[in-house]
Amino acid sequence: MDSILLVGAGRMGGAMLRGWISAMGSGYHFVALDPHAGPSLADIGNEPVPGSRFTYVAQIKDLPPNLHPKVVVLATKPQQVNQAITDLGDCIVSDTVVVSVAAGVSTQSISGAAFTDAAIVRVMPNIGALVGSAVSAGFALPETLPHQKALVEELFASVGQMIWLDREEDMHLATAVSGSGPAYYFAFCEAMIAAAETEGLPSDIARALAIGTVTSAGQLLTRKPDPTHLRETVTSPNGTTAAGLGALLSNGELKRLSHDAVRAAAMRSRELS
Ligand SMILES: NC(=O)c1ccc[n+]([C@@H]2O[C@H](COP(=O)([O-])OP(=O)(O)OC[C@H]3O[C@@H](n4cnc5c(N)ncnc54)[C@H](OP(=O)(O)O)[C@@H]3O)[C@@H](O)[C@H]2O)c1
Repeated sequence: MDSILLVGAGRMGGAMLRGWISAMGSGYHFVALDPHAGPSLADIGNEPVPGSRFTYVAQIKDLPPNLHPKVVVLATKPQQVNQAITDLGDCIVSDTVVVSVAAGVSTQSISGAAFTDAAIVRVMPNIGALVGSAVSAGFALPETLPHQKALVEELFASVGQMIWLDREEDMHLATAVSGSGPAYYFAFCEAMIAAAETEGLPSDIARALAIGTVTSAGQLLTRKPDPTHLRETVTSPNGTTAAGLGALLSNGELKRLSHDAVRAAAMRSRELS
């Protein structure tokens, strides 16, 4: 049975693992290595879907003997990635694909830490993996074989959509837009709740209306992925929406703030690399 090793089963790793098991479990042995994630993974069980296996270990010494995973997914904090690869030692063999989801850690740095010439892939998922709707951007070094790329794509497509990038440099912008992006929309939702409260709506109603609105806007975008068309469709000339949008967009502040956010996050990603 082919195995897939997840190193770091925290927020991101845990979300991906659950998605992988439920979407592509049969035929795979999933192994999670993390010093503290045992309790949060306890419900997964040894055979989570028929024909699959799941093993959790807290320490490298407890990994199944002679484990040579098809894929190793590194989901530790960026600063811990290289040490985690070094510690895995000969568990990574030449036909292993090493996938890092860590922000800012370059393929050059990852291949420097690995002992073998394993294929290296970077993927920037987002926390939408928790609900099976992540959007992930990936970059594979040219030596990655088509079947290895296909397996990585299968993993990340099982928790949402997967988009390949041609240039590693673009991983910084993918990190800034989609990796960090959910938090921007949460912050916007918070600001709408605060505005409604300040204008006099009871808190629970302000929350229900703002959260319901962002959720339905997201679903409409899924059905028709054209935000300009949707905005125009719901804006009658001289109506209430036009008045609100006038205030939101008139002085270019929203565009400027969005640009500042993307630039700051991309800069931080570059600093981490
Ligand atoms: N969260 C997101 O929305 C998001 C989105 C895109 C990408 N990412 C990337 O995903 C990675 C993980 O982020 P996160 O938010 O999931 O962090 P997290 O919740 O802190 O999870 C990281 C986990 O890795 C464990 N760990 C550390 N060193 C390890 C080692 N050598 N072997 C095995 N496990 C080890 C940590 O244990 P300890 O706590 O004991 O150190 C922790 O449980 C980051 O690199 C981040 O850039 C995150």
